[in-house]
Amino acid sequence: MNTLIIDCRVNGVKQQLSVTPAMPLSDVLRAQGYLSIKQGCCVGECGACTVLVDGVAIDSCLYLAVWAQGKSIRTVEGERVNGKPSHVQKAFAESGAVQCGFCTPGFIMATTALLAKPRSQPMTVMQIRQGLAGNLCRCTGYQMVVEAVQECESSAQ
Ligand code: FES
Ligand code: FES
Repeated sequence: MNTLIIDCRVNGVKQQLSVTPAMPLSDVLRAQGYLSIKQGCCVGECGACTVLVDGVAIDSCLYLAVWAQGKSIRTVEGERVNGKPSHVQKAFAESGAVQCGFCTPGFIMATTALLAKPRSQPMTVMQIRQGLAGNLCRCTGYQMVVEAVQECESSAQ
């Protein structure tokens, strides 16, 4: 199997990653120790493997690692700011949007991308639900996740 070296940034740090053409990004990053990336379904249904690539939330189980050449990747490991949780992480914890935690890294990254989109007014509940529709949770029933996103929006104003 051909092995290729790709250059990218992971959480702001330049990396050279050894990949094969068919390897999903989730496998490559987990092998590097980014274990926040969960492998739930591995077919693009659950969002547990969500990371940001150049600011866009993607399912890393469906994203070939070779596509990350030259790109900037963010995972939950890089979200702490000066050793403290990001406002999204804090809001999830304070709203009770974390139970078993399996889906949480994916939700945190998807929420981070959702909140970064420019908008003139806070999202409606339906917009939040639609924005996070690619992320599944078996524990929380989603209401606390919605509340966490609302908390982020209100604290940003
Ligand atoms: S593990 Fe990637 S979407 Fe489920
Ligand atoms: S907190 Fe358990 S799956 Fe979401």
